[in-house]
Amino acid sequence: MERLVIRGGRRLSGTVKISGAKNAVLPVIAATLLGQDNVTCLDEVPNLDDVRTISEILRTLGVKVRHDIANNKLFVDATTIENITAPYDIVRRMRASFLIMGPLLARLGRAKISLPGGCAIGTRPIDLHLKGLEALGAKISIGHGYIDATTPNGLKGAQIYLDFPSVGATENILMAASMAQGQTVIENPAQEPEIVDLANYLNIMGANIRGAGTNVIKVEGANKLIARDYTIIPDRIEAGTYMIAAAMTRGDVYIANAISEHLKPVIAKLKEAGVSVMEDVDGIRVVGNGRPRAVDIKTLPYPGFPTDMQAQFMAMLTIAEGTSMVTETVFENRFMQVDELRRMGAKIKIDGRTSVVEGQDKLTGCQVKATDLRAGAAIVLAALVAEGETQVGYIHHIDRGYDNLVQKLVSLGADIKRVDS
Ligand code: EPZ
Repeated sequence: MERLVIRGGRRLSGTVKISGAKNAVLPVIAATLLGQDNVTCLDEVPNLDDVRTISEILRTLGVKVRHDIANNKLFVDATTIENITAPYDIVRRMRASFLIMGPLLARLGRAKISLPGGCAIGTRPIDLHLKGLEALGAKISIGHGYIDATTPNGLKGAQIYLDFPSVGATENILMAASMAQGQTVIENPAQEPEIVDLANYLNIMGANIRGAGTNVIKVEGANKLIARDYTIIPDRIEAGTYMIAAAMTRGDVYIANAISEHLKPVIAKLKEAGVSVMEDVDGIRVVGNGRPRAVDIKTLPYPGFPTDMQAQFMAMLTIAEGTSMVTETVFENRFMQVDELRRMGAKIKIDGRTSVVEGQDKLTGCQVKATDLRAGAAIVLAALVAEGETQVGYIHHIDRGYDNLVQKLVSLGADIKRVDS
């Protein structure tokens, strides 16, 4: 089992280039199933285990996928799809596998996908996905751990209201509606930048989607979508993670290829904590000015403070001057980093959806583990400032969502290495 060995105390400085967004590339790869007549070339594809997982799923459908890691490209030939079943042993590894449901129903009228199951941060139901797809005419049955969907009368446009602006449900419905007959209106959709990226890609393929990124999306169904090339947007959560690293280590880091428009709440909160943040068209410069000040954060759907940045920001608050309140409103169990941070000396009290973080003047290195992707990132951030050596286990969680984390941190001056125990 591999682990990370980190010696804290180094100030980070220099430039780090942000890779393509995990949460944009996964729905876009699912959407390649809609593309006929050509081979799709996706650019700025990050080197992540989750990209390998969804590529494996497409291959089980008989779709040809080639991942050119060195050049950050992925080639998908979905001119023919031979199979409509996604098996448990792959789907259980990654919930986003469920995003192939919408495209398969739109393209072939049939999909049989293993129930994704929960994960560390919550039960993560799919009721909103199913409700939206049924509104478009899908007939869904659940049995033996599989969801079996058909479209006996094809997909027809519908008026859909999402009780919660679910990112995945919005994406599945958008992909299905892009080839449904007539108009679909999605009210209260997710407004994340990754939704806009998916809509842009679908429109390049010949879809007719308006309003992505707002609270109403209108879709006129198309008869056929043509495979087109596309470049994925940069990963705002990876960018935010390196911003926190610069702030915590009192460093001076330029985050190249970051889109500050996508990070407004994180930038605002860093400035409130006394961190210098300078934005320009090509990226964001972050300078840590001594010990950060305590601030309160509350996660919300976009454009609110992103839940995917909650654990990383909490890591910074564990060494801030003062006491902070961290409220997680999106997932029911997303404080998995707390126990590990406590082992490093953090003083955190959990009260339901809120954690009270009493800033300490130092953390101490020890053996800890990653429990999920963003909790793992938070532990690495804490280790960068902790006294002594920290060993982080279960780093496969981190490999799912961070492209070349060790190399990027080493290039900024961190003392971190990957060892095989
Ligand atoms: C996406 O997950 C992201 N993953 C998550 O990023 C992110 O945390 C989340 O959106 C919120 O921004 C990808 O894009 C691959 P949701 P998703 O559906 O789509 C409830 C990371 O670290 N819900 O918006 O699964 C659900 O239980 C990952 O990169 C329902 O109740 O998130 C949760 O409480 C983690 N019924 C809330 O909505 C449904 O049918 C948000 O879930 C669907 C969701």
